[in-house]
Amino acid sequence: MTSSSDAISNEQDAAKRNLWLHFTRMSSYADSEVPVIVRGSGAYVYDQHGKRYLDGLAGLFVSQVGHGRTDIAEAGARQAAELAYFPLWSYAHPKAIELAARLADLAPGPLNRVFFTSSGSEAVESAWKLAKQYFKLTGQPGRYKVLSRTIAYHGTSMGALAITGLADIKHPFEPLPPGGIRVPNTNFYRAPDFVAGDEAEFGRWAADEIERAILREGPESVAAVFLEPVQNSGGCFPPPPGYFQRVREICDRYGVLLVSDEVICAFGRLGYYFGSQRYEYQPDIITFAKGLTSGYAPLGGMLVSDALIEPFTTGTATFLHGITFAGHPVSAAVALANLDIFEKEDLLGNVRANEAAFRATLEKLYDLPIVGDIRGEGFFYGIELVKEKTTKETFNDEESERLLRGFLTPAIFEAGLYCRADDRGDPVVQLAPPLISGQKEFDAIYEILHGVLSEASSLL
Ligand SMILES: Cc1ncc(COP(=O)(O)O)c(C=O)c1O
Repeated sequence: MTSSSDAISNEQDAAKRNLWLHFTRMSSYADSEVPVIVRGSGAYVYDQHGKRYLDGLAGLFVSQVGHGRTDIAEAGARQAAELAYFPLWSYAHPKAIELAARLADLAPGPLNRVFFTSSGSEAVESAWKLAKQYFKLTGQPGRYKVLSRTIAYHGTSMGALAITGLADIKHPFEPLPPGGIRVPNTNFYRAPDFVAGDEAEFGRWAADEIERAILREGPESVAAVFLEPVQNSGGCFPPPPGYFQRVREICDRYGVLLVSDEVICAFGRLGYYFGSQRYEYQPDIITFAKGLTSGYAPLGGMLVSDALIEPFTTGTATFLHGITFAGHPVSAAVALANLDIFEKEDLLGNVRANEAAFRATLEKLYDLPIVGDIRGEGFFYGIELVKEKTTKETFNDEESERLLRGFLTPAIFEAGLYCRADDRGDPVVQLAPPLISGQKEFDAIYEILHGVLSEASSLL
């Protein structure tokens, strides 16, 4: 055994013995290697054996500018040397100030105040807490409920989990904080028959379901609606035309806050700084994380409208909430360097110029019997797999387990593509490459998926 294979073997042992992987069935690595990713460059990452993979999911919808950008790394190192840490509890530091001002400039309308967090779950949690305290301060203390869509993922902390619409990941932690109410999502492929033919009509129905839920719960008890611009979980559900405009009207009618959860959709994923800008609606709060730093350091937060901050700007009122590492100086410096690259390299322009080509390349997969629906926008796509294309019949649990966990996920990775086969709703392959990607990367994604999905079709 060479010394480097010794090192790899020791690392494998420690990975299996000491490290706890998130949302991972640890037993699945009992007889196989834990994949260990050691470095990245551009749209590619490399494992401990030196094998290269196309990063088809930007890590986890994070690595917008791609891997290995030394300019961002250096900005973080400079900040760590100058001021590694100071809290945002009653004190400020220059990079958090500069970043807050820059985000306020980029954000739509009167979203001018930034409350930083360290993650997306904390951003969602903070938005719910803000909504509750805001209503208590403004004489509507009964408003605490939150509406969100079926199968939507909004994070894992207890509050965020109560907003999340995935029953399986909630059950072990019940009872969750009360007040999480579900409304239909915008999966047009699986629209109910009575609105299946017309996307705009489907959108009206889905938005009106929000109004019905508000009326059913009692408007005086509803604080906020949490919606992603394009829902990720379930495999990329873009909003039907007019959907968000109608939701905005409904929220205004009943005094309910509209929270745009843009943890994935902000910072270029849809070709705009914020997803709400693409679909032209004005949220009261935007939650963000992931792409703000392209993953070079952790950072999240919420952008809050002038109206919402107003009760906190006079007298003794304080938003009674804080997080030690929120707005960390190194993360803020990294975010600023990341946004500089967005500007210098016109990454939003790259997404807008290439999104049609990405879609067209993926749509060539429709020749496979297993590919039921390809949906998404920008550099954000889901491919729904079906057992039978004409009837849209989906897989049962055993088939899903065998096909997705047993075959697809390892086969795609083995073929050199990192992405995700997900069965939290109907089975989908999720794609979200770094925003620096172009036709070369789209073709590589297509080639690998075509090969693996053809084989999957033959296994059915
Ligand atoms: C829409 C949305 N909200 C919240 C979260 C939670 O973010 P985090 O994993 O950073 O806590 C995610 C994570 O994927 C997300 O996609």
